Amino acid sequence: MPENETVRVALYTQNSENFRSLNQLMWQIPLISMTLTGGLWFGVSRSDSLPLFQVCLLGLAAAGNIGLLIVLYRLRYVMERYLGWLKNFDQGGYVGAPGDGFFTKPYMVRSTFQIMLLLAAITSAILMVATMNTAGWFGDGSGSRAVAFYERQAKDLAENYELVPFDQAHPVLSNELGGKPPKSILDVGAGTGRDVNWMAANGHSVVAIEPAASFRALAAHLHPNASAQWLDDRLPKLEKLTAQRFDWIVMSAVWMHVHPQDRPAALARLKTLLTPTGKIYITLRLGPPDPAREIYPVSVEELRDIGVPLGLKLQEFGEREDLLGRPEVKWRTVVLS
Ligand SMILES: C[S@@+](CC[C@H](N)C(=O)[O-])C[C@H]1O[C@@H](n2cnc3c(N)ncnc32)[C@H](O)[C@@H]1O
Repeated sequence: MPENETVRVALYTQNSENFRSLNQLMWQIPLISMTLTGGLWFGVSRSDSLPLFQVCLLGLAAAGNIGLLIVLYRLRYVMERYLGWLKNFDQGGYVGAPGDGFFTKPYMVRSTFQIMLLLAAITSAILMVATMNTAGWFGDGSGSRAVAFYERQAKDLAENYELVPFDQAHPVLSNELGGKPPKSILDVGAGTGRDVNWMAANGHSVVAIEPAASFRALAAHLHPNASAQWLDDRLPKLEKLTAQRFDWIVMSAVWMHVHPQDRPAALARLKTLLTPTGKIYITLRLGPPDPAREIYPVSVEELRDIGVPLGLKLQEFGEREDLLGRPEVKWRTVVLS
């Protein structure tokens, strides 16, 4: 064989092998996508209480599939160049498959894979936006993320909340309201209705504000006999309350969820809902803040600074341990009148 011919045959063999490798790579792309997407989606399904992590995983799944779609495009382009070379090398021996029907056209395999990758990317992106929405990222800023957290975790939290008897959770209120003439009471952020149930059972007329639908449903289930009016509303505006005025406003473990900037407006609004001798009972959570759950720092001093200009007098009842057993959290009870 002349030397030139030997080189040509070597080139042919080399390029055929290169083409085969590229072809194998192309068929591996859907498998890579399925492993990547499946793994990430599984991770999402197991991290229910970590929306930020879920959003990151879904973002990665969307970006990964788009990346593979682009890689596939480039890979098939390079393969086409090899095919062109092989065809020119030996027109007679080359098996072309131009195809004339919809399913036999060239690039059918690439297009099918790309559609699958695109669907996986779109699904991941939709799930990502939905997760952000459920986590309250697009909310109006007044406790949306906190409420989204309670919506998700209501069932698990309810067990602990309901274990604590009212008199143990609120000895001050228990003294003020137990066996006393009926009062009108507003419970803001009423949760599972544990406190509403006690107050209603003690003859008081109660309006309960609870923005998390899961808590409202649980309250109806756990305390079916508690006669109270439940409203879906939230601080700082409390828009659903109009003419009613209350002898007591109860805010147990809620103030830390109100953004510090919203607190003056929230307290001013609460004051407008009091009868002339009405009082606001607040429990303050002293512990590490948690921006993901919208838990901001609170203090008696801050509350006094907001309350005094509004004409509210603050009475303090000392510090208490956390009844759910968290060593890093302490509570202070205050009454504003
Ligand atoms: C820690 S739980 C306390 C529930 C109940 N008060 C208790 O002591 O068991 C906090 C409650 O505040 C509610 N919440 C959060 N942000 C709120 C807001 N901006 N206005 C009113 N309630 C809010 C939540 O939905 C949740 O029910």
